[in-house]
Amino acid sequence: MTSSEQAATATGEPAGPARTPATEPAAAGPRSLAARAPRVPADRLLGELVPPRHFARESFDTYVPDPDHPSQARALAHVRAVADRLTAPPATGWFRRRRTAAPAVYLDGGFGVGKTHLLASLADAVGTQQAAFGTFVEYTNLVGALGFRATVDALAQRRLVCIDEFELDDPGDTVLMSRLLRELADHGVALAATSNTLPESLGEGRFAAEDFLREIQALAARFEVVRIDGEDHRHRAVTTHAPVVAAGRVAAVVGARPDATVDDFETLLGHLPAVHPSRYGALLDGVGLVGLTGVGPVTRQDVALRLVVLVDRLYDRDVPVLLAGDGLTDGLDLFSPEMLRGGYRKKYYRALSRLGALAAEGAAIAAATP
Ligand SMILES: Nc1ncnc2c1ncn2[C@@H]1O[C@H](COP(=O)(O)OP(=O)(O)O)[C@@H](O)[C@H]1O
Ligand SMILES: [Mg+2]
Repeated sequence: MTSSEQAATATGEPAGPARTPATEPAAAGPRSLAARAPRVPADRLLGELVPPRHFARESFDTYVPDPDHPSQARALAHVRAVADRLTAPPATGWFRRRRTAAPAVYLDGGFGVGKTHLLASLADAVGTQQAAFGTFVEYTNLVGALGFRATVDALAQRRLVCIDEFELDDPGDTVLMSRLLRELADHGVALAATSNTLPESLGEGRFAAEDFLREIQALAARFEVVRIDGEDHRHRAVTTHAPVVAAGRVAAVVGARPDATVDDFETLLGHLPAVHPSRYGALLDGVGLVGLTGVGPVTRQDVALRLVVLVDRLYDRDVPVLLAGDGLTDGLDLFSPEMLRGGYRKKYYRALSRLGALAAEGAAIAAATP
């Protein structure tokens, strides 16, 4: 089973688009994630394929290439040129050019060099109607929710499909995405993808293009690889540790905010299989702060993979998290050493790093709450 299938199994519902809207009584605001079971129509899933809120104010103009790393200016110029090409009015009459293949670009580089910034800027420049933007995982979840054919049909309407953090650690998912991209390219859809890299100090290779080109085989020749060197722009230490708040504080902080939820960690993990991972974003509708009590190690891989998807959606939406639990000693021992050495290590490290950042925001809010 692929990781996205592992994360998606046992949803307890038929596959295919849900038809009822994701409405809930708006009364007192959401208080528990485990009490929510959002229904998301297909057009909303497709509508959510936009750059994350975190990049809302970024564009090509706010990307400042590092003069010490000329590859950054080159990457910016390359991606801008792709945007220009995709937004140029079609040539007509005598000047009509021969049909050329739509561009496909792979931004390859280390952690924090601005790959997502450039990808989001490209999607913005092409426009939300014409461009789809999602992470690798969001597209595999979309295929899981809509089916392969419906996903191709929907995405083939776009001029550009952006895939952030192209994952190569799951053969099943990689084959699926490779098929999807090939069909889209055959429909004349432009493609842009970024590499999925771990923070430097976790000691993983900086570039992934070789593996990417091997995995996408038939498509490889169409992709232009753009390498980006540089320092981690976030200048953030790799945090796999997260500030933990006292269990008693969670209730006080959550009680002070109408948009906050509070859940027992195990109960929430027990609820996640009942919600398709493509709806974890909808699960967080209207939620501005998430409190979790009883946080402790996750032992099962399928449970851990669902948690990874939830953390990604929390991070996309910049939702601070309050973590409380006796099981957490010096930080986030959420995943076992075996998991952190295994095939999905990038997903787990990403989740730890993101949850650490969101928990730091949560702890700051807790400290500021009387
Ligand atoms: N050259 C740059 N100029 C301005 N902001 C940058 C630059 N590179 C990165 N950033 C910012 O740093 C943060 C991390 O960049 P991001 O695109 O997420 O990195 P990556 O996807 O390569 O890991 C983002 O907030 C991004 O806007
Ligand atoms: Mg990124």
